[in-house]
Amino acid sequence: MRLTCLVDNGVQAGSSLWGEHGLSFLIETDAGNVLWDTGRSGTVLAHNLRALRLDGVRLAAIALSHAHDDHTGGLEAALEMFPGVPVYAHTDLFQERFSRREQDARAVGMRLTRHELEQRTALYLSDDPQEIVPGVWTTGGIHHRPYPQGSSPHHFVWQGDELVSDTYADDLSLVLLPEGSGAALLTGCSHAGLRNIMETAHKITRDSLSVIVGGTHLGGVTLGELSAILAAFERENNPALYLNHCTGDAALFSLREALGRHVHSCPAGTVIQL
Ligand SMILES: [Fe+2]
Ligand SMILES: [Fe+2]
Repeated sequence: MRLTCLVDNGVQAGSSLWGEHGLSFLIETDAGNVLWDTGRSGTVLAHNLRALRLDGVRLAAIALSHAHDDHTGGLEAALEMFPGVPVYAHTDLFQERFSRREQDARAVGMRLTRHELEQRTALYLSDDPQEIVPGVWTTGGIHHRPYPQGSSPHHFVWQGDELVSDTYADDLSLVLLPEGSGAALLTGCSHAGLRNIMETAHKITRDSLSVIVGGTHLGGVTLGELSAILAAFERENNPALYLNHCTGDAALFSLREALGRHVHSCPAGTVIQL
């Protein structure tokens, strides 16, 4: 199984790839390939696929981590490049979502309506784990959230005629079970909280996680939570970490200080062999 970071805020030095505040990975497996998220614009996804000579790849499915448009903004472009490819996500995907700073609330959810998407392709929405291709599972909804979430004070949803804090019910991750090597966790933005997601992932792996990849939303993390995360990593025998997107430079720096060689950078163009 092979992961390639297609879209991230950063790009590999010296490459011709483009960056944007967004996330997308390609998961290649013998049983079929899955596109995980689509970046924000579609333009960057299309450019980077061409630059990586992956535009001719065959996809079995597209899976979406959550509704935010830095993950789903490229969906329309992806479905033009890969027509008819089924889409997997959480049942709460189409709830309207907003980012509010001062008085301005900007829509940051899905740009396509459910109807528009269903006209283009098959849609598999579930709150339960879904096996997309053999060895690639969604976690389903993260229901048990005893630990801090990866939340932002700017994220809101409508409840009646009132904007209330988004609970990120739509946030899910992928569990990858490559043959002959350890399980991997591939996150989107980790709004449900990294430690909560890791616990839910174990219901599928029943084993420790060897690799953790993706956005972890640790920007405002407290020192206490950071040490709890380090302890959680230790219980997994310190997985290889490829953290990017919304992880936050300060948290990444602290993790690198604490874990050294276990922490890798993961800009667009990074290839991870599982
Ligand atoms: Fe998000
Ligand atoms: Fe994000």
